[in-house]
Amino acid sequence: MKPQDPKGNAVIVVGGKWGDEGKGKITSRFSKDADLVIRGTGGANAGHTIVFGGKKIALHLVPGGIVYPQTTCLIGQGVVIDIQVLLKEIEALEEMGVPNVRERLRITGRAHIVFPYHKELDGLYETFKEEPVGTTKRGIGPAYIDQGARSGIRVYELLQPVDVLERLIREATTPHNQLFEANGMDEVRADAKALAEEYHKYGKMLEPMLERDPDGLTSKAYREGKKVVVEGAQAYRLDLFNGDYPDVTSSNCVTTGTLLGAHLSHKMVDKVIVVLKAHDSRVGNGPFPTEQEAHIENDQVLPYLIPYTGDIIREDAHEFGATTGRPRRVGFFDAVITATSKDVLGADYICLNHMDTLGEIGKKLGSVKMCTSYFYQGEHIYHYPDDIRLTGEVPTPMYEEFYGGWTIPSSARSYDEVPEAAKKYIKRIEEVTGIPVKYIGVGPDNDDLIVRDDV
Ligand code: GDP
Ligand code: IMO
Ligand code: MG
Repeated sequence: MKPQDPKGNAVIVVGGKWGDEGKGKITSRFSKDADLVIRGTGGANAGHTIVFGGKKIALHLVPGGIVYPQTTCLIGQGVVIDIQVLLKEIEALEEMGVPNVRERLRITGRAHIVFPYHKELDGLYETFKEEPVGTTKRGIGPAYIDQGARSGIRVYELLQPVDVLERLIREATTPHNQLFEANGMDEVRADAKALAEEYHKYGKMLEPMLERDPDGLTSKAYREGKKVVVEGAQAYRLDLFNGDYPDVTSSNCVTTGTLLGAHLSHKMVDKVIVVLKAHDSRVGNGPFPTEQEAHIENDQVLPYLIPYTGDIIREDAHEFGATTGRPRRVGFFDAVITATSKDVLGADYICLNHMDTLGEIGKKLGSVKMCTSYFYQGEHIYHYPDDIRLTGEVPTPMYEEFYGGWTIPSSARSYDEVPEAAKKYIKRIEEVTGIPVKYIGVGPDNDDLIVRDDV
């Protein structure tokens, strides 16, 4: 018997650096004619900004494709859900005029819940560390820890009778409460009875959106050749396995982990799009080889008269976290990281956002740079080293310089409208990474995108 499986039909969008590359915007744009849009990993640590019909919203849990009325949107099994954030988001979308949100949004019963005690634990664990991660304090790590410890509460558990839910929460929180007590945090002790009553009500609110057959939903979409779009959260260097451990998030947010979280197999994939910006950014702690000096201290922008390079990039690119509002650390484009990640991400194409912004940055700086190799441990290398924490040395970037003073209007839709200087920059990214840049972001709106037909 010959295999009769159809070709993959899912487009998966993953972050290529440290997050905030514009995944939300691109997923949303790709969802214009999609049937099913899925979020696979992370939780409300993600902040995905979309600008649709002139209205801007930062989504933390609902897939950005929700703004197109023909889509079904699934919050997949890899996501940890903060219900209060989710309900606010649903209301905000309804207020924006997005139709039938509650009918089109599906939530797998397998997704785990982030409780208030997870957020308290997130903060507490950070205080135990001499070098904290700088998490978003959204309870993500502790919720995944509970999942691994098999004491997590899923959406399904919320629908159990209140006394059963209370027992499950009590079992989950006994060690947490001991830790709170030991650290003088009695006031945040989890009250299992009160939480069970409150969260059972939330469960009932979510019940109409509950998807009891998520694998069936994705399988049907695959077999019927529907267009599926998967919205990655976080990014390659924040991945629990591949990233800058321990300065990472607590999920596997690379392509493979995202697929697992989205109820898909590799067979169902058509294309993997790695999203990048024309410059780089990072929030939280950890190595950032191409970081540029800026007036930032303790996640605050200090007053200054003369900006450093990093201040100019941050200001022009409006680099403030969509979730926490923290100013993002910024730097020049690191092509070595993208070359290193090509195969592990299974990258087919790059989507390069903020090409409009880099032109403006270049006007102020005179030129822009791109890192195409490193000097590390006395050697010239072309990959991102794995042992940075062990050696204690952040690789020194070797830069190539480009004239960066181009102008790309956000109305540009054809590659012919891209100035030669910008094309040169894009071509160099393709040469160093071996990945074609098919999509070019020229502004924050969903439609501010050039789709090249020459690659
Ligand atoms: P995500 O987490 O990957 O979805 O990205 P964020 O929403 O956190 O951050 C990306 C930021 O860049 C948002 O403020 C977007 O509105 C903005 N953005 C995305 N693409 C472009 C682009 O091509 N040009 C400009 N000027 N802004 C963009
Ligand atoms: P999107 O999907 C940028 C970072 C945090 C911190 C580390 C761990 O919008 O790109 P966590 O709260 O996950 O335990 O924090 O990961 N981080 C992100 N940085 N964008 C994100 O999501 C992020 N999600 C987590 O800043 O350094
Ligand atoms: Mg973001």
